Amino acid sequence: MKMTKACLFDLDGVIVDTAVYHFQAWRRLANELGFDFTEHQNEQLKGISRMESLELILKWGNVTLTEEEKIERATRKNAWYLESVMQMTPNEVLKGVPEFLKELRANGIKIALGSASKNSRLILEKINMIEFFDVIIDGNNITKGKPDPQVFLLGAEATNCKPADCVVFEDALAGVRAGKSGGMRVVGVGDPKILHEADFVINGFEEMTIDRLF
Ligand code: BG6
Ligand code: MG
Repeated sequence: MKMTKACLFDLDGVIVDTAVYHFQAWRRLANELGFDFTEHQNEQLKGISRMESLELILKWGNVTLTEEEKIERATRKNAWYLESVMQMTPNEVLKGVPEFLKELRANGIKIALGSASKNSRLILEKINMIEFFDVIIDGNNITKGKPDPQVFLLGAEATNCKPADCVVFEDALAGVRAGKSGGMRVVGVGDPKILHEADFVINGFEEMTIDRLF
């Protein structure tokens, strides 16, 4: 029988839906540079770091910037993004998440965050979820972004659990791949067509119970 000793959660798109705020802020930046991109293109930005996102967007717009200009633009985008984050409330926590985390807790299963975001602590505070997490590994702790497994391997290590005893929850293909290549079981959250490399896919946490972990 498989053991589950820790669950590792992505943040954006799993605990809370911040993708729309990222999209609005990146779009504002693109518009300033004289082009636009679609919600469909925005899908490719899920799970990847701030600077990787900027590189892709600049490629879409055929815009070249110096390293210094890139940092300046990314900083501006983040300031706009944070204006939205500051308005967030606990109402934005995705359905079924608090109930599932409470169930994990009641059963002694460790809870860790494994996110590419450098804003994860602030977001968790805004939505009143920070105290659920035993461990937080985010964009401030990693040198390699998803699909590299680093973020989840560090999470497993910090919970003192072997990768095989961990289950990852992810809404992005890059994140599903990160979990799988780290030797973990992965539950996709979202579209089964996009997340088919996961062990199984749920639509949302209302349909997730602890017995599905084993
Ligand atoms: C991920 C998001 O969680 O964090 C990405 O899915 C985002 O879209 C990345 O680019 C980095 O976030 P931040 O908050 O550090 O800019
Ligand atoms: Mg995500």
